[in-house]
Amino acid sequence: MARRKKIYEGKAKILYEGPEPGTIVQYFKDDATAFNAEKKDVIDGKGVLNNRLSEFFMNGLGQIGVPTHFIKRLNMREQLVRQVEIVPLEVIVRNYAAGTMSKRLGIEEGTQLPRPIVEYCYKDDGLGDPLVTEEHIAAFGWASQQDMEDILSLALRVNDFLSGVMMAVGIKLVDFKIEIGRVYDGDFQRLIIADEISPDSCRLWDMETGRKLDKDVFRRDLGSLTDAYTEVARRLGVMPQNATPMTKPTLIN
Ligand code: CDP
Repeated sequence: MARRKKIYEGKAKILYEGPEPGTIVQYFKDDATAFNAEKKDVIDGKGVLNNRLSEFFMNGLGQIGVPTHFIKRLNMREQLVRQVEIVPLEVIVRNYAAGTMSKRLGIEEGTQLPRPIVEYCYKDDGLGDPLVTEEHIAAFGWASQQDMEDILSLALRVNDFLSGVMMAVGIKLVDFKIEIGRVYDGDFQRLIIADEISPDSCRLWDMETGRKLDKDVFRRDLGSLTDAYTEVARRLGVMPQNATPMTKPTLIN
Protein backbone atom coordinates (compact mmCIF):
# COMPACT_ATOMS: atom_id res chain seq x y z
CA MET A 1 0.00 0.00 0.00
CA ALA A 2 1.32 3.42 -0.90
CA ARG A 3 2.33 5.51 2.10
CA ARG A 4 -0.24 8.17 2.74
CA LYS A 5 0.69 11.77 2.27
CA LYS A 6 1.44 13.94 5.26
CA ILE A 7 -0.21 17.33 4.83
CA TYR A 8 0.87 19.08 8.00
CA GLU A 9 2.59 18.35 11.29
CA GLY A 10 1.72 20.51 14.27
CA LYS A 11 2.76 20.46 17.91
CA ALA A 12 0.29 17.78 19.03
CA LYS A 13 -1.15 16.32 15.81
CA ILE A 14 -0.24 15.21 12.30
CA LEU A 15 -2.67 15.57 9.40
CA TYR A 16 -2.64 13.04 6.54
CA GLU A 17 -4.58 12.98 3.31
CA GLY A 18 -7.82 11.06 3.90
CA PRO A 19 -9.18 8.12 1.87
CA GLU A 20 -11.81 10.26 0.08
CA PRO A 21 -11.46 13.75 -1.38
CA GLY A 22 -12.40 16.32 1.25
CA THR A 23 -11.32 14.12 4.16
CA ILE A 24 -8.28 14.22 6.43
CA VAL A 25 -6.84 11.73 8.91
CA GLN A 26 -5.97 13.47 12.16
CA TYR A 27 -3.27 11.62 14.16
CA PHE A 28 -2.86 12.49 17.86
CA LYS A 29 0.76 12.51 19.04
CA ASP A 30 1.97 12.08 22.62
CA ASP A 31 3.94 15.34 22.40
CA ALA A 32 3.08 18.05 24.87
CA THR A 33 4.20 21.64 24.43
CA ALA A 34 3.54 24.79 26.39
CA PHE A 35 4.57 28.44 26.39
CA ASN A 36 4.68 28.48 22.59
CA ALA A 37 6.76 25.27 22.51
CA GLU A 38 9.44 26.53 24.93
CA LYS A 39 8.53 23.62 27.24
CA LYS A 40 8.30 20.19 25.55
CA ASP A 41 7.87 16.56 26.59
CA VAL A 42 6.46 13.27 25.40
CA ILE A 43 3.60 12.07 27.61
CA ASP A 44 2.90 8.38 27.12
CA GLY A 45 -0.75 7.83 26.23
CA LYS A 46 -1.80 11.49 25.87
CA GLY A 47 -2.59 11.14 22.16
CA VAL A 48 -4.79 8.11 22.77
CA LEU A 49 -6.77 9.93 25.45
CA ASN A 50 -7.19 13.12 23.42
CA ASN A 51 -8.32 11.18 20.34
CA ARG A 52 -11.02 9.49 22.39
CA LEU A 53 -12.03 12.60 24.36
CA SER A 54 -12.23 14.78 21.26
CA GLU A 55 -14.42 12.10 19.63
CA PHE A 56 -16.68 12.15 22.68
CA PHE A 57 -17.12 15.95 22.68
CA MET A 58 -17.49 16.29 18.89
CA ASN A 59 -20.07 13.48 18.80
CA GLY A 60 -22.03 15.12 21.60
CA LEU A 61 -21.97 18.46 19.81
CA GLY A 62 -23.18 16.77 16.62
CA GLN A 63 -26.05 15.25 18.57
CA ILE A 64 -27.27 18.68 19.69
CA GLY A 65 -26.92 20.10 16.19
CA VAL A 66 -23.60 21.92 16.46
CA PRO A 67 -21.71 21.12 13.24
CA THR A 68 -18.17 19.76 13.61
CA HIS A 69 -15.52 18.34 11.29
CA PHE A 70 -15.59 14.95 13.03
CA ILE A 71 -16.59 11.94 10.89
CA LYS A 72 -15.39 8.88 12.83
CA ARG A 73 -12.61 7.53 14.96
CA LEU A 74 -10.39 5.15 12.98
CA ASN A 75 -8.21 3.65 15.70
CA MET A 76 -6.51 4.47 19.01
CA ARG A 77 -4.68 7.50 17.66
CA GLU A 78 -6.49 8.55 14.50
CA GLN A 79 -9.79 10.03 13.48
CA LEU A 80 -11.30 10.85 10.11
CA VAL A 81 -12.40 14.47 9.77
CA ARG A 82 -13.72 16.79 7.06
CA GLN A 83 -11.16 18.92 5.32
CA VAL A 84 -11.77 22.57 6.14
CA GLU A 85 -10.20 25.94 5.54
CA ILE A 86 -9.13 26.98 9.01
CA VAL A 87 -10.19 30.49 10.03
CA PRO A 88 -6.91 31.95 11.37
CA LEU A 89 -8.32 32.64 14.84
CA GLU A 90 -8.11 30.88 18.18
CA VAL A 91 -11.51 31.40 19.76
CA ILE A 92 -11.28 31.38 23.55
CA VAL A 93 -14.32 31.23 25.83
CA ARG A 94 -13.88 31.98 29.52
CA ASN A 95 -16.25 31.37 32.42
CA TYR A 96 -13.74 31.97 35.22
CA ALA A 97 -10.58 34.07 35.14
CA ALA A 98 -7.32 32.14 34.63
CA GLY A 99 -4.09 32.16 32.65
CA THR A 100 -3.45 35.16 30.46
CA MET A 101 -6.72 36.88 31.38
CA SER A 102 -5.77 36.85 35.06
CA LYS A 103 -2.32 38.21 34.22
CA ARG A 104 -3.56 40.84 31.80
CA LEU A 105 -6.36 42.21 33.94
CA GLY A 106 -5.10 41.37 37.42
CA ILE A 107 -8.09 39.19 38.25
CA GLU A 108 -7.43 36.36 40.68
CA GLU A 109 -7.51 32.91 39.07
CA GLY A 110 -10.84 31.19 39.71
CA THR A 111 -12.93 34.37 39.92
CA GLN A 112 -16.26 33.77 38.20
CA LEU A 113 -16.79 36.18 35.32
CA PRO A 114 -20.04 38.19 35.11
CA ARG A 115 -20.85 36.27 31.92
CA PRO A 116 -18.94 34.08 29.46
CA ILE A 117 -16.32 36.19 27.70
CA VAL A 118 -15.21 35.32 24.17
CA GLU A 119 -11.75 36.40 23.02
CA TYR A 120 -10.05 36.08 19.65
CA CYS A 121 -6.34 35.47 19.07
CA TYR A 122 -4.63 35.59 15.69
CA LYS A 123 -3.34 32.10 14.93
CA ASP A 124 0.37 32.62 14.43
CA ASP A 125 2.90 30.68 16.52
CA GLY A 126 5.71 33.01 15.44
CA LEU A 127 3.86 35.89 17.07
CA GLY A 128 2.65 33.82 20.04
CA ASP A 129 -1.04 33.95 18.98
CA PRO A 130 -1.66 37.60 19.92
CA LEU A 131 -5.04 38.79 21.20
CA VAL A 132 -6.87 40.76 18.50
CA THR A 133 -10.13 42.69 18.31
CA GLU A 134 -12.97 42.37 15.81
CA GLU A 135 -11.59 45.54 14.20
CA HIS A 136 -8.37 43.70 13.28
CA ILE A 137 -10.34 40.68 12.10
CA ALA A 138 -12.57 42.78 9.83
CA ALA A 139 -9.81 45.09 8.58
CA PHE A 140 -7.44 42.25 7.67
CA GLY A 141 -10.26 40.13 6.23
CA TRP A 142 -9.66 37.10 8.46
CA ALA A 143 -13.44 36.66 8.85
CA SER A 144 -16.52 38.57 7.70
CA GLN A 145 -19.13 40.19 9.93
CA GLN A 146 -21.47 37.27 9.23
CA ASP A 147 -18.68 34.81 10.07
CA MET A 148 -18.10 36.58 13.39
CA GLU A 149 -21.79 36.29 14.28
CA ASP A 150 -21.70 32.58 13.44
CA ILE A 151 -18.44 32.06 15.35
CA LEU A 152 -19.83 33.77 18.48
CA SER A 153 -22.97 31.66 18.36
CA LEU A 154 -20.96 28.43 17.83
CA ALA A 155 -18.56 29.34 20.66
CA LEU A 156 -21.40 29.98 23.12
CA ARG A 157 -23.21 26.78 22.16
CA VAL A 158 -20.01 24.78 22.67
CA ASN A 159 -19.57 26.53 26.02
CA ASP A 160 -23.08 25.64 27.19
CA PHE A 161 -22.69 22.04 26.07
CA LEU A 162 -19.21 21.51 27.54
CA SER A 163 -20.04 23.30 30.80
CA GLY A 164 -23.08 21.08 31.28
CA VAL A 165 -21.29 17.84 30.43
CA MET A 166 -18.46 18.74 32.79
CA MET A 167 -20.71 19.94 35.60
CA ALA A 168 -22.50 16.58 35.50
CA VAL A 169 -19.23 14.85 36.40
CA GLY A 170 -18.09 17.34 39.03
CA ILE A 171 -15.74 19.36 36.83
CA LYS A 172 -15.75 23.13 36.38
CA LEU A 173 -15.12 24.36 32.82
CA VAL A 174 -12.91 27.39 33.46
CA ASP A 175 -12.08 28.18 29.83
CA PHE A 176 -11.33 26.56 26.49
CA LYS A 177 -10.13 27.24 22.99
CA ILE A 178 -11.73 26.13 19.74
CA GLU A 179 -10.81 26.49 16.10
CA ILE A 180 -13.27 27.08 13.33
CA GLY A 181 -13.24 25.63 9.81
CA ARG A 182 -14.96 26.78 6.65
CA VAL A 183 -16.57 24.14 4.43
CA TYR A 184 -18.24 24.49 1.05
CA ASP A 185 -21.43 22.57 0.28
CA GLY A 186 -22.11 23.40 -3.36
CA ASP A 187 -22.67 27.14 -3.56
CA PHE A 188 -23.00 27.49 0.20
CA GLN A 189 -20.27 27.93 2.74
CA ARG A 190 -20.62 27.44 6.44
CA LEU A 191 -18.52 27.35 9.55
CA ILE A 192 -18.01 24.25 11.69
CA ILE A 193 -15.98 23.29 14.75
CA ALA A 194 -12.58 21.90 13.71
CA ASP A 195 -9.26 20.83 15.29
CA GLU A 196 -9.80 19.12 18.67
CA ILE A 197 -11.61 19.57 21.97
CA SER A 198 -9.60 17.94 24.72
CA PRO A 199 -7.97 18.71 28.08
CA ASP A 200 -5.06 20.13 26.04
CA SER A 201 -7.26 23.06 25.04
CA CYS A 202 -9.51 23.47 28.11
CA ARG A 203 -9.03 24.39 31.74
CA LEU A 204 -10.85 21.82 33.87
CA TRP A 205 -10.94 22.01 37.66
CA ASP A 206 -12.40 19.46 40.03
CA MET A 207 -15.40 21.17 41.66
CA GLU A 208 -14.73 19.84 45.15
CA THR A 209 -10.97 20.04 45.45
CA GLY A 210 -9.96 22.48 42.71
CA ARG A 211 -7.51 19.85 41.37
CA LYS A 212 -6.44 20.74 37.84
CA LEU A 213 -7.33 18.11 35.25
CA ASP A 214 -5.94 19.80 32.13
CA LYS A 215 -2.72 20.88 30.45
CA ASP A 216 -1.85 23.23 33.32
CA VAL A 217 -0.68 20.02 35.09
CA PHE A 218 2.10 19.95 32.48
CA ARG A 219 2.59 23.72 32.18
CA ARG A 220 2.95 24.14 35.94
CA ASP A 221 4.56 20.76 36.85
CA LEU A 222 1.64 19.61 39.01
CA GLY A 223 2.07 15.84 38.59
CA SER A 224 1.09 13.26 35.99
CA LEU A 225 -0.73 14.61 32.96
CA THR A 226 -1.87 11.11 31.97
CA ASP A 227 -3.43 10.60 35.40
CA ALA A 228 -5.34 13.88 35.04
CA TYR A 229 -6.64 13.14 31.52
CA THR A 230 -7.46 9.55 32.51
CA GLU A 231 -9.56 10.93 35.37
CA VAL A 232 -11.53 13.15 32.97
CA ALA A 233 -12.07 10.21 30.57
CA ARG A 234 -13.09 7.90 33.43
CA ARG A 235 -15.64 10.37 34.83
CA LEU A 236 -17.16 10.90 31.38
CA GLY A 237 -17.53 7.15 30.93
CA VAL A 238 -15.09 7.17 28.04
CA MET A 239 -13.03 4.63 30.00
CA PRO A 240 -14.20 1.79 32.26
CA GLN A 241 -15.31 3.09 35.67
CA ASN A 242 -12.83 0.86 37.48
CA ALA A 243 -9.87 2.03 35.37
CA THR A 244 -6.87 3.13 37.33
CA PRO A 245 -4.52 5.73 35.92
CA MET A 246 -2.04 4.02 33.63
CA THR A 247 0.46 4.99 31.03
CA LYS A 248 -1.19 2.91 28.31
CA PRO A 249 -4.94 3.57 28.69
CA THR A 250 -7.43 0.82 27.88
CA LEU A 251 -10.41 2.24 26.06
CA ILE A 252 -13.96 1.04 25.69
CA ASN A 253 -14.68 -0.10 22.05
O1 CDP B 1 -3.02 28.85 28.26
P1 CDP B 1 -2.46 30.23 28.43
O2 CDP B 1 -2.41 30.72 29.85
O3 CDP B 1 -1.20 30.45 27.65
O4 CDP B 1 -3.48 31.17 27.65
P2 CDP B 1 -4.97 31.52 27.97
O5 CDP B 1 -5.27 32.67 27.06
O6 CDP B 1 -5.21 31.74 29.42
O7 CDP B 1 -5.78 30.24 27.49
C1 CDP B 1 -7.18 30.13 27.60
C2 CDP B 1 -7.60 28.72 27.24
O8 CDP B 1 -7.34 28.48 25.86
C3 CDP B 1 -6.86 27.64 28.01
O9 CDP B 1 -7.78 26.59 28.29
C4 CDP B 1 -5.79 27.17 27.07
O10 CDP B 1 -5.48 25.81 27.28
C5 CDP B 1 -6.46 27.37 25.71
N1 CDP B 1 -5.48 27.70 24.67
C6 CDP B 1 -5.11 26.74 23.74
O11 CDP B 1 -5.63 25.62 23.77
N2 CDP B 1 -4.21 27.02 22.76
C7 CDP B 1 -3.66 28.25 22.67
N3 CDP B 1 -2.78 28.49 21.70
C8 CDP B 1 -4.01 29.24 23.61
C9 CDP B 1 -4.93 28.94 24.60
